[in-house]
Amino acid sequence: MNYRRFGRTKWKVSEIGYGMWGMGGWSGSDDEESLKALQHAVDQGCNFFDTAWAYGEGRSERLLGQLVRANPDRQLYTATKIPPKNSTWPSRREFTLDETFPSDYIEQRVYESLEHAGLPKFDLMQFHVWEDTWAEDDRWARKVDELRSQKLFSAIGISINRWEPWNGVKAVRSGLIDSVQVIYNIFDQNPEDQLFPACAEMDVAVIARVPFDEGTLTGALTKDSTWPEGDWRNTYFVPANLIPSVERAEKLKSILPAGMTLPQMALRFILSNTNVSTIIPGMRKLSHVDSNIAASDAAALPKDLVSELQAHRWERSPTKWSQ
Ligand SMILES: NC(=O)c1ccc[n+]([C@@H]2O[C@H](COP(=O)([O-])OP(=O)(O)OC[C@H]3O[C@@H](n4cnc5c(N)ncnc54)[C@H](OP(=O)(O)O)[C@@H]3O)[C@@H](O)[C@H]2O)c1
Repeated sequence: MNYRRFGRTKWKVSEIGYGMWGMGGWSGSDDEESLKALQHAVDQGCNFFDTAWAYGEGRSERLLGQLVRANPDRQLYTATKIPPKNSTWPSRREFTLDETFPSDYIEQRVYESLEHAGLPKFDLMQFHVWEDTWAEDDRWARKVDELRSQKLFSAIGISINRWEPWNGVKAVRSGLIDSVQVIYNIFDQNPEDQLFPACAEMDVAVIARVPFDEGTLTGALTKDSTWPEGDWRNTYFVPANLIPSVERAEKLKSILPAGMTLPQMALRFILSNTNVSTIIPGMRKLSHVDSNIAASDAAALPKDLVSELQAHRWERSPTKWSQ
């Protein structure tokens, strides 16, 4: 495993971190299996874990607390997220700070997350949705300063809505945040336009999330894929999304270098960008942990392949089903 600097915090985080959404109650998620996969990742050098209050209303945070307690001699970086008060993902332009992150509510949720995890502090606290107009209202920042000075967390970040990387640039440039979490993968390359240059200038860390485009870039989906009842992917991979996604993944398969898998190419494409501090694939199977961590050892892709993959950029705008 290779490590990168996490922006101005100067933490050394593993290139492959861990996305813990799938452990919060996706259909089929099993806590024992999840803990095994998490420990397996730790044993191979993974040290950055991303969870949220909303991932099972504390279930995923509890698993992270268990993992930290089981590894007292290791530096594991813990990141969680405060859900918006109006429980609406993604946020919309008209939402106000009073509706989403009023000061007393921020404090309440921070304490609840700490209680779920059974930890005295988190390393990183993130706002689970973000509207860049909120950067102009410093009430959240004052509350963050107060809670940070009480050592309830060390750093603060935002998680940017799907396909809106522009909607966090002001926050980055405000100097008030330490990290952004954004969708960045072979299809969604648009954070490179404005967001990454701003992060580089302000020394803000970048957490690349959804590296497999929720599964498309694993190459395992077909035009007939369905998921068990209640699995959110049934509502995301509606035909208008599933069909073009599978067609695009097929085109990528046709340019795979010999011996490389699509998930490997997907992760190594992201690692080829030095603005990225860590990637947080969702992974519950041990074999997925192994394969994803191996992508860090294999390092960046050759430059000509990166250029070829740049042509697979897919411009998408939020829709009713995109969530
Ligand atoms: N608004 C937000 O802040 C927000 C929104 C979405 C996600 N996130 C964060 O980002 C993380 C990643 O996103 P995600 O989990 O939705 O999507 P993802 O990482 O793009 O895809 C996860 C899926 O890929 C599968 N997978 C993982 N490694 C694989 C491999 N090597 N080969 C084949 N399949 C593989 C996983 O299967 P198994 O689980 O069966 O191993 C899972 O079904 C989340 O866990 C969460 O921490 C944040």
